[in-house]
Amino acid sequence: GKAVFDATRPDEVRQFFDGLEPFDHLVLAASGGKGLGPFATLDLADIGSGVDEKIRPQLSCLQAALPTLNRSGSVTFISAVSAQLAAPGVAGIGAINGMLLTVAPILAVELKPLRVNVVAPGVIDTPWWDF
Ligand SMILES: NC(=O)c1ccc[n+]([C@@H]2O[C@H](COP(=O)([O-])OP(=O)(O)OC[C@H]3O[C@@H](n4cnc5c(N)ncnc54)[C@H](OP(=O)(O)O)[C@@H]3O)[C@@H](O)[C@H]2O)c1
Repeated sequence: GKAVFDATRPDEVRQFFDGLEPFDHLVLAASGGKGLGPFATLDLADIGSGVDEKIRPQLSCLQAALPTLNRSGSVTFISAVSAQLAAPGVAGIGAINGMLLTVAPILAVELKPLRVNVVAPGVIDTPWWDF
């Protein structure tokens, strides 16, 4: 089945997950599109946008899913290579994505036996680059 909801809206997130039967695997792909560019001219408000549009939606979905996500299953956050790439222009987007690399191992301990994974893709040709 397919459902449409805005993961930045906690009420919609809760409503979606409350309506699910128990399930095994959750992949969290939500993302904003800001935070890329040279640090000297980076709008630091973009880091807040990244929290609002990527970090909080992913965490919010996992939190709302906990009552129905089977503990024998898994969750996978999607971070980005920018969090570990010491390259010019990724300080902002790296700061945003680094949060998911930090929380994943913490939640792996806290929520065990649920497996908590995080993947950090490199550059992939998707609509993300169209913003
Ligand atoms: N592409 C890359 O080069 C790259 C590199 C590193 C990391 N990543 C990460 O990989 C993940 C997937 O990105 P992608 O490249 O596949 O981007 P994408 O094509 O823009 O896909 C993002 C998906 O997330 C959904 N989404 C975004 N915000 C949402 C929200 N508030 N509520 C519900 N759904 C939401 C979008 O839904 P709609 O289609 O309905 O908008 C879309 O299906 C992201 O976390 C991104 O940061 C991508």
